[in-house]
Amino acid sequence: MLVVGPNGAGKTNLLEAIHVGAQGFSPRTRAEPRLVRFGAAAARVRLEGTEGGADVRTEVTIAPGAGKEVRLNDVPAASAEELRSRLAALVFVPDRLAVVKGGPAVRRAYFDRMLGRVLPAQAPLPGEYGRALAQRNEALRRTRAGLSSREALEPWTRRVAELGAELDAARARLVALLAPGFSAAAEALGLAGASLGYEERGLPLEELEGRLERDLERGTTGVGPHLRDADVHAGDRELRGFGSQGEQRTAVLALVLSEAAVLAERRGTPPLLLLDDVLSELDAGRRSALLAALPVGGQTLVTATSADALPRGGPEPALLVSVRREGTESLAEAA
Ligand SMILES: Nc1ncnc2c1ncn2[C@@H]1O[C@H](COP(=O)(O)OP(=O)(O)OP(=O)(O)O)[C@@H](O)[C@H]1O
Ligand SMILES: [Mg+2]
Repeated sequence: MLVVGPNGAGKTNLLEAIHVGAQGFSPRTRAEPRLVRFGAAAARVRLEGTEGGADVRTEVTIAPGAGKEVRLNDVPAASAEELRSRLAALVFVPDRLAVVKGGPAVRRAYFDRMLGRVLPAQAPLPGEYGRALAQRNEALRRTRAGLSSREALEPWTRRVAELGAELDAARARLVALLAPGFSAAAEALGLAGASLGYEERGLPLEELEGRLERDLERGTTGVGPHLRDADVHAGDRELRGFGSQGEQRTAVLALVLSEAAVLAERRGTPPLLLLDDVLSELDAGRRSALLAALPVGGQTLVTATSADALPRGGPEPALLVSVRREGTESLAEAA
């Protein structure tokens, strides 16, 4: 599906609404009241579709002050998480460039969310590790302040070591699953020799115990997966520091495409892909390559300022939607 319209017409708005309906949250902002139309009391998105042959209906209502209400097949869901575990949607929005360009914390958060989608059994791990780490850090500071004994730290150190090793291994497994598809997608999009890596180091108890004095002094745990990073390279260049804007963009797209391929294989149905403004900065050859790399049999929504963004002679979109601002004159067509 191709969504076209001039700047400010509401293309990203539509894509964001579909994401909220499918996943329960916005890919752009955590400030949910911003999703409500100016002057309105609440926002509601309803989606209807099929997934793996079964009918699916979702409804997400955001009422500032009253919170968020999620329904899945007309039954209230305990949380938005339920939507995420039932439906897969992957998004590319221009600010996702930060996944390659940004600091390690952005990448860790992104890979940990991917972990939840690709290896759902491991979804709670990042949260569990984060909580154990926070408890240990709190215990370190209490011990340093003389409010608690060193013995009281031990259970937290053991828990951090255990969960840290599990999280590190899960991330390495995730990256190993994605890496071949990532290199292939990047290559197809014109970025040769791209690689994705994550070296599993585990978190031995002895390592944590060995640096106890330093950790006590700083009041924080100085080793573990909360400080690790994934490598995104092209040849021997690290794309974060040395990639061009176009190369970083290609790498983010290749990440999305490789995750889509892995999800399609593991779930039996390809995820919904929501690609905002992907075509504008790609040359004609790369645009064709991107369209050819989209998952077969799945749905993809692409936004562009005009239908000319599609390469001539290539596949036509199944649906062309033209959006316009209220009160402005423009063609509204749906084919
Ligand atoms: N809560 C809101 N209520 C009403 N309008 C809003 C709200 N938030 C943003 N807007 C406006 O909606 C309009 C459409 O924005 P949107 O980002 O969807 O445009 P777009 O078609 O993606 O444009 P571009 O081609 O520049 O990316 C903008 O003018 C924006 O200011
Ligand atoms: Mg936009």
